[in-house]
Formats: sequence, structure tokens, C-alpha cells
Amino acid sequence: MLSVVVLISGSGSNLKALLDAADNPLFGARILAVGADNPADGLAHADLYGIPTFVVSPTNFESREAWADVLLENINFFKPDLVVLAGFMRILPANFVRALSPNLINTHPSLLPKFPGAHAVRDALSAGETTTGVTIHVVDEGVDTGPHIAQREVAIQLGDSEAELHERIKVVERELLVETVKAFADKKRETNGSR
Ligand code: GRF
Repeated sequence: MLSVVVLISGSGSNLKALLDAADNPLFGARILAVGADNPADGLAHADLYGIPTFVVSPTNFESREAWADVLLENINFFKPDLVVLAGFMRILPANFVRALSPNLINTHPSLLPKFPGAHAVRDALSAGETTTGVTIHVVDEGVDTGPHIAQREVAIQLGDSEAELHERIKVVERELLVETVKAFADKKRETNGSR
């Protein structure tokens, strides 16, 4: 069974998709805990499944590194095989990335390398793109620069607002994220030869 810790910052619809998928034992992965950088609404999804949550807020720390060290301590308490950033809106420092990657993945709402950063959906619209999409990638020490694991296109419709487009992207994103975690789970089962 693949063990996973998920980090969020917001509504957690990607997290909810993973929680719902993992509720079926055939999925092959279990969410051990959910962490956040603030008391995010999405933590309620974990509460409903009785899954432990933790909040480590950067405002309580003198430096980004000190914050990330405590975030890492919380994650390592659960000893996960994989850490998934699902709408986690903080840049993670090198000490944190080096401790976890490549078992640290992120989902991003654009077809990287196009439109990295915190405003990917808005940037694709502003650029006049007709197609955008989702990228799931390994987190490296850059911003949205790690090796791609999976990508899927999403058409931009005439007149799309940022919110409308982002919601359409998230439908595809949730599917791709579940498929990607399932693939990690299948690989672990094949590697371990366990049922
Ligand atoms: C996702 O689209 C993610 O790619 C982006 O923020 C969104 C989070 O959505 N970074 P949710 O919190 O999972 O609903």
C-alpha cells in the first residue's frame, strides 16, 4: 500500500478527489495525513475521513527554511512514500525539496513549461491561448521546473473567465492526479511483489 501525505493551502478539491479514491482499498494508496500552511477550508475533507491534519504557518517562523524544517518534521512523523502538493501555494526551500524529492510531486494548472508560478490560469488567458491544461511534475529546487510526470490538455473557450477556466481545468486535474497517484501505488505493489 502506498502511503501518502498531501499538502494544501485552499479549498482542497484535488485532496478530496484523492481521499475519495483512496477510500476504495483497490486504489492501493492511503492518505496518512494532510498538512497546510494555514487553517485551510480543505482540511475539513480530511476531518470527514478521520485523517490527521497539521498546520504549519510561515508567519510563526523567522525564516522560510525554519518553517520548512518544521513542515518536514510533521511530514516525516508519518513516514510517507509520497508527498503530494495539491494546491499548496508556497515555494519550498532547497532543504525541504532535497529531503523528499523525487517522492515529492506537484500539480500545476498549465501545460508547463508554459505559465509557471501562481497565476497560470490567468496568464494563459492573457496570452490568448486556445488550449491550456494540467501538469503533474516532480518538485525540484526551481519553481514548477521539475521533470513532468503527466500532462493533459484543456480547451479554452471564448469568453472564459479565469474562474470558469480554472474550474474546467480542475475537473481534468483531479482525474489526472488520481491516475498519477494510482500509478505510483501500482509501481510500489509491482516492486514489492505484494498484493
Ligand atoms: C489547483 O488547480 C492547483 O493546481 C493550483 O491551485 C488549485 C487548487 O485547487 N495550484 P484545490 O484547492 O485542490 O481545489
